[in-house]
Amino acid sequence: MSGKNKETMERPRSSALGWFLLVLLFSAVDAHSWIEQMTVIASNGTFVGDPGYARGNVLRTAPDFSDPTMTYLIPPDDRANQSLILPTDRMCKSTQQTYNVTEGSPRLQASAGAAIALRYQENGHVTLPWNQPGKPKNRGTIYVYGTTQPKENETLLGVHKVWNADGTGGDRRGVLLSTQNFDDGRCYQINNGNISEYRQGEYPHVANTLMGADLWCQQDLALPSDAPSGKLYTLYWVWDWPTAPGVDPALPEGKQELYTTCMDVDVVDGGSPTTETRVQAGYVEDQSLDRAAIPSEFAEVMASDPETEAGDSSSSATPAPTPAPTIPSRVAIVTTFITVYTTV
Ligand SMILES: *[C@@H]1O[C@H](CO)[C@@H](O)[C@H](O)[C@H]1NC(C)=O
Ligand SMILES: *[C@@H]1O[C@H](CO)[C@@H](O)[C@H](O)[C@H]1NC(C)=O
Ligand SMILES: *[C@@H]1O[C@H](CO)[C@@H](O)[C@H](O)[C@H]1NC(C)=O
Ligand SMILES: *[C@@H]1O[C@H](CO)[C@@H](O)[C@H](O)[C@H]1NC(C)=O
Ligand SMILES: *[C@@H]1O[C@H](CO)[C@@H](O)[C@H](O)[C@H]1NC(C)=O
Repeated sequence: MSGKNKETMERPRSSALGWFLLVLLFSAVDAHSWIEQMTVIASNGTFVGDPGYARGNVLRTAPDFSDPTMTYLIPPDDRANQSLILPTDRMCKSTQQTYNVTEGSPRLQASAGAAIALRYQENGHVTLPWNQPGKPKNRGTIYVYGTTQPKENETLLGVHKVWNADGTGGDRRGVLLSTQNFDDGRCYQINNGNISEYRQGEYPHVANTLMGADLWCQQDLALPSDAPSGKLYTLYWVWDWPTAPGVDPALPEGKQELYTTCMDVDVVDGGSPTTETRVQAGYVEDQSLDRAAIPSEFAEVMASDPETEAGDSSSSATPAPTPAPTIPSRVAIVTTFITVYTTV
C-alpha cells in the first residue's frame, strides 16, 4: 500500500503541466541560389527552344531535391576562417565536376554566338536585404566564365578574377563572358517586404509551375562566336557575395561568401547571329516576363559583337547598367523570436 502511494508521489508533477518553451531564432534567410535553368534567346528577345540545365542538376520537383543538392558555398561553412579561400577550393560542387547529365535535365543546345539567359531565384537576398548586414548594395556580383577546356579539378582561384574578357588571364584556358549585379532590377520572391510588394506591382507575373508566383532573376549573355560546333562549351557561374568588415557585430572581420554553378552547353550548328542580324535584332516590347530577355541586358548583349570582343574588353564584360536596386540605406538587424508553448 505504501509502495503504491510512493509511486504516485514520485511521479514528477511537472509532467502534468508539461510546458516547454522553445525559442526559435531566425538569424537570416538561408543563402542558396544556383542556376535553375538556361534558355536560348531569339533576336526579338523571346526565349526559344528547350531549356537546359546545370551539371548534376536536381530539379525542384524531384523527390530527393533539397537546397543542399544544388548549393555550393566557398569557403565551406565549417572552415574556421570564413575569409579564407584555399588554392585547393574547387570551382564546382562535387556533383558538378564532370559532364554530369541527370535524367530530365538535359544540356542546353545553342549555336556559337547565341544569346542565352541564365535564371536563378533571389531567395530573399534581393527583397529582404536587411537580413544580412554588410552585404553589397547590388546584392553581390555575378561573373560567368567560359571554356572549351574545363578541368575536373578546376579551382576557384585559378579562374575567378583571373580569366579576363580577352582570354589572356591566368592559364588562358577560358574567358570572362559576363559580369552583372545579382539584383537584376526586377526579380522577387513573394514576401511582405516593401521591395517585394513594389516589384510584384511593377513586374506582375502569372504564377506558373516553374517559378510559382515568384519572378526569377536573370543574367543574359552571348556565347562566344568561335565556340566550336559539335563540342561542349562550359560555363562557370560565380556569385561573389562578401560581407564587409565592421558592419555585422557577429562578423567583425567580415567574410567571403561565394556560390557557383557549373554548366555545359552543346554547341550546335547554325543560327549563329551574324553582325547583320545583331544590328537588326529588335526586342519586341511588352513580352511576358517569364519568357523573354531583360530589355536592358539584351540590348547590351546585342550591342557587343563577340567577334571583336578580343579587342574590346569594355563590351559585354562590363557590369550591366542595371538600375540601382531600391534597397534601404539604413541597415537593420532583423531578428525574429518565435515563442512556442506546447503541452505534453
Ligand atoms: C520571336 O521570334 C521567335 C522565333 O523566331 C518566335 O517564335 C516568337 O513568337 C517571336 N516573339 C514575338 C514576341 O514576336
Ligand atoms: C551527378 O549528379 C547527381 C545529382 O546531383 C549526383 O547524385 C551524382 O553523384 C553525380 N555524379 C557524379 C559523377 O558527380
Ligand atoms: C583569415 O584569412 C584571411 C585571408 O587569408 C586573413 O587575411 C586573415 O588574417 C585570417 N584570419 C585569421 C584569424 O587567421
Ligand atoms: C588536376 O588534374 C590534372 C590531371 O587531370 C593534374 O595534372 C593536375 O596536377 C591537377 N591539379 C590539381 C591542382 O590537383
Ligand atoms: C523600402 O523601405 C526602405 C526603408 O524604409 C526604403 O528605404 C526603401 O526606399 C523602400 N523601397 C521600396 C521599393 O519601397
